[in-house]
Amino acid sequence: MDERIEIIEGDITRVVVDAIVNAANSTLLGGGGVDGAIHRAAGPDLLDECRGLHGCATGEAKMTRGYKLPAGHVIHTVGPIWSGGARNEDELLANCYRSCLRLAAERGIKTVAFPAISTGAYRFPLQRAVRIALRETKAFLSEHPAIEKVVFVCFDQDTLQAYRSLSAGEVSP
Ligand code: APR
Repeated sequence: MDERIEIIEGDITRVVVDAIVNAANSTLLGGGGVDGAIHRAAGPDLLDECRGLHGCATGEAKMTRGYKLPAGHVIHTVGPIWSGGARNEDELLANCYRSCLRLAAERGIKTVAFPAISTGAYRFPLQRAVRIALRETKAFLSEHPAIEKVVFVCFDQDTLQAYRSLSAGEVSP
């Protein structure tokens, strides 16, 4: 696996990188899960800035400052809600990773941390989501040497295990 990819267990609000990714909803006005944790840790100024973004489509990404977070920026993306796999969920999730990484590269962001987008409240099957995350990230990094590090931050053991086992096997580009 690309040596620029790291897999850790922890709380993404404490990770010191240029940008952490938020698994938001299309309003960008906060929620539960990692979205709630990021807004709590960043403070109310984050919501103020998000209000000015006027939402975000599924698969797209928008960037704000990080405010009280140790990370300088937050890249907000909206993952697909799993509804059985016949409504383009795989492609929409792949697009989340591509959109976030593209935005990071455009803005000179060199280190990015991702949560396991869509695998919580949005019920996307974990292994399937992790395979997409690793495949898309590996493909993007192979074309963008300016990105120095991508960290997958796992909030629980199942997620950590899924990333570790799938990254150990070859992930088809
Ligand atoms: N750090 C890292 N990962 C976290 C944290 C945290 N502090 N808190 C939760 N997670 C993990 C979850 O355990 C899961 O693995 O983030 C992953 C994504 O879960 P959710 O936060 O539920 O996000 P998602 O499934 O994409 O659903 C998004 O939930 O919170 C709302 O506003 C959000 O409507 C949106 C929906």
